[in-house]
Amino acid sequence: MRRIAKDERTRIRLTLNGRARSAETEPRTLLSDFLRYSLGATGTHVGCEHGVCGCCTVLLDGTAVRSCLTLAVQAEGRDVRTVESLAAPDGALNALQQAFQNHHALQCGFCTPGILMSFTDYLKRNPKPSEADIRDVLSGHLCRCTGYAGIVSALLEAANRIESR
Ligand code: FES
Ligand code: FES
Repeated sequence: MRRIAKDERTRIRLTLNGRARSAETEPRTLLSDFLRYSLGATGTHVGCEHGVCGCCTVLLDGTAVRSCLTLAVQAEGRDVRTVESLAAPDGALNALQQAFQNHHALQCGFCTPGILMSFTDYLKRNPKPSEADIRDVLSGHLCRCTGYAGIVSALLEAANRIESR
């Protein structure tokens, strides 16, 4: 196996929100840092940087992952979706975003992108979640503003809207 020097740079090519993108970075670069600093996708937030807070959640080939626990090189050739992908090109909010607005579920908004991306994945797999299901998935996200009631209401409304389509 070829040894990679720690300061060696490598080019990573991936699809970000439907567009082919590439940039050089070090093999040790986290996907969260690559998205924010190399590709300018700053909608992905970074809180704890060790997999606890959920702020950095993105979709990798459709599955929610912590981008602070994923190396950028692991995303080579794959499809990455961030919060910037959710609204329509004209800025219209999708059902999940609209529900957050309706229920004042964003306070400072720091945790919001991660929650939106987790539930984009989760509601595809379980379009009829109970409140207990929602609280269970939400337990993987820390909101430092601590107002979880609005977030739970928004997620219940989003699930109802998506399910009734
Ligand atoms: S920044 Fe990734 S889980 Fe907190
Ligand atoms: S809305 Fe402020 S951290 Fe959640």
